[in-house]
Amino acid sequence: MIPQETVDKIIEAAQIDEVVGDFVSLKRRGTSLIGLCPFHNEKSPSFNVSVNKGIFKCFGCGKGGDSVRFIMEHEKAAYPDALRYLANKYQIEIAEIESSPEAQIVNDRRESLFIVSAWAAKFFQQQMLQTEEGKAIGLSYFLERGFREDVIKKFELGYSPDVWDALTQKALSEGYKMEFLEETGLSIRKDNEKVYDRFRGRVMFPIHSFTGRVIGFGGRTLKTEKSVPKYVNSPESEIYHKSNILYGLFFAKKAIREEDNCYLVEGYADVLSVNQAGVENVVASSGTSLTVEQIRLIGRFTKNITILYDGDPAGIKASLRGLDMILEEGLNVKVVLFADGHDPDSYVQKFGSAAFKTFIEKNKQDFILFKTSILLRDAGNDPIKKAGMIREVVESIAKIPDSIKASVFIRECSSLLQIEERSLISELNKMRMVKAKKESYPSQPSARDQHPDEPPADLHMEPETSSLAETDENQEKEIIRLLLNYGHELVHWDGITDTYIAPYVISNLADVVFENTECRLIIDEYKEKLEAGELPSDQDFIKHSNRQIADMTISLVSSPYILSENWYAKRKIFVKDETENLRATILGGIFHLKKRKVEHILKNIRDEIQQETDEDNQAILMRRYLQVKEVEKGISQFLGSVIIK
Ligand code: GTP
Ligand code: MN
Repeated sequence: MIPQETVDKIIEAAQIDEVVGDFVSLKRRGTSLIGLCPFHNEKSPSFNVSVNKGIFKCFGCGKGGDSVRFIMEHEKAAYPDALRYLANKYQIEIAEIESSPEAQIVNDRRESLFIVSAWAAKFFQQQMLQTEEGKAIGLSYFLERGFREDVIKKFELGYSPDVWDALTQKALSEGYKMEFLEETGLSIRKDNEKVYDRFRGRVMFPIHSFTGRVIGFGGRTLKTEKSVPKYVNSPESEIYHKSNILYGLFFAKKAIREEDNCYLVEGYADVLSVNQAGVENVVASSGTSLTVEQIRLIGRFTKNITILYDGDPAGIKASLRGLDMILEEGLNVKVVLFADGHDPDSYVQKFGSAAFKTFIEKNKQDFILFKTSILLRDAGNDPIKKAGMIREVVESIAKIPDSIKASVFIRECSSLLQIEERSLISELNKMRMVKAKKESYPSQPSARDQHPDEPPADLHMEPETSSLAETDENQEKEIIRLLLNYGHELVHWDGITDTYIAPYVISNLADVVFENTECRLIIDEYKEKLEAGELPSDQDFIKHSNRQIADMTISLVSSPYILSENWYAKRKIFVKDETENLRATILGGIFHLKKRKVEHILKNIRDEIQQETDEDNQAILMRRYLQVKEVEKGISQFLGSVIIK
């Protein structure tokens, strides 16, 4: 129990901006402070802190309250624990009755796990600093590796004696429950009887939550045998979730915010050495691949990540794709590559802290350009590989939510790859279209009805008539349906002799990318066959070995038409029998699809214009918009005339 007067004292002392500021990067706006809400994922800040009122409020997810509430929500802590946290932060003594270890093991399971973990960290520390074995083996190992005592102390490093159950016995004798020793993984029970310590004979790295509580451990072996795993880590528990923990974040967060950058390394040792060099804004992913949660964790403190890699090419290539995730979260990624078998730890230890800092400054590269050059080197002169790598690079760029930033990369990559900017942009647009489609699917009423995305009034853009929330799937299917049904028939086109419908359609759609997988596969097969001099028939697809293609074909050839009748009705077009005027039907299908694709491009440009703040760029985008608009008008007119004819 905390006496009421102490509670009052704590609440009075707790400054909301300071309490929240430990977890959220706050910027002043008017009379309040704003930041990214820690309770839901957001990219633009809607989390408000009012110092005068002593409260926080998120206009995105609705959470709000005072300092105590914030800690309770954020740390998933009970009311008294939140008070204890604040008391500790403001150094207010709580005159609670000293409780026995048994009493400390409170009902709250999570709290018990925290308590036993904190106790274990102290135990390991003591073992290393105060026992003969610990000093001779653990401490001397760290010192030999060049770690200073202040760093060893700061990170609370320790040593776990090379005895079966030293920790387990000690813990039990002090009243800690077996249940919690097992749940935290400190002790392992075999066949329900023999109990032993997980980390026997290892040097210990406690892992801290980002409020600084010990939640797990990494233990490094001192043996060199290959059969012994180098590191053993605590298992997942109620308080330790690997996917949202970064080693060192507790010690780094202040520096990360101050430097507005976070260095990301691979291992425990790297974090220690880099810290020792005076660079404190460093965290480790601890050997696992980076997760979205970890990225968002960093994102609360800074939008800039610098990854320090040791240069194993296979490893680098494998990790490239994972890094797109960082871009997707809207963060900027730079990369520093250590060569000659060095990792950040070995580099600092060998060359010292000044050389290390210089090395980083000299060698940091933007991720996209880094990726481009790595893949480029890999592809060499192989045109197929090169095409593949270009796609991959553009894919990364497509992940960047900020379109201005993306366009800068397009420009730089175009010169690196020696490819026209235009082709990269068109590739980028295609990917964005697919992405937009995925995001808006399943289609809701029109996106446009919900938030009218009218451009600034002075741009005079007319609103689009059709909803872009839906996909192009219907138009695509319609074309495929026409191909399958009439592809082998002859039609007389204006000014040319009779030709088959299939090659005519295919050549007219050369620049159209199909989004629907089956449609795309069918089109590709048509192309291939036609190029080989064959005229495919619907039977080829009805009996197709790919089940999805066969199914789609069957449903297409058995339905009259797919385009919404509404479309025809709106244009007062009466469709009696499509075979009556095959020419009009086919042209209608082609241009209808093209119109959709153009509408998408227009929408993309509109979105870009809205995000663009620079007037010159706006003008450029506007010109492009009007050009494409002309194309669209042409298509519409053609569509109208052809179908009515
Ligand atoms: P040193 O070899 O002492 O320099 O350690 P390090 O921290 O540099 O480790 P290393 O670069 O070999 O590996 C990077 C990280 O991967 C480590 O910090 C661990 O988190 C993790 N790791 C490495 N080896 C193992 C292992 O055998 N098992 C597990 N679970 N994790 C490992
Ligand atoms: Mn290492």
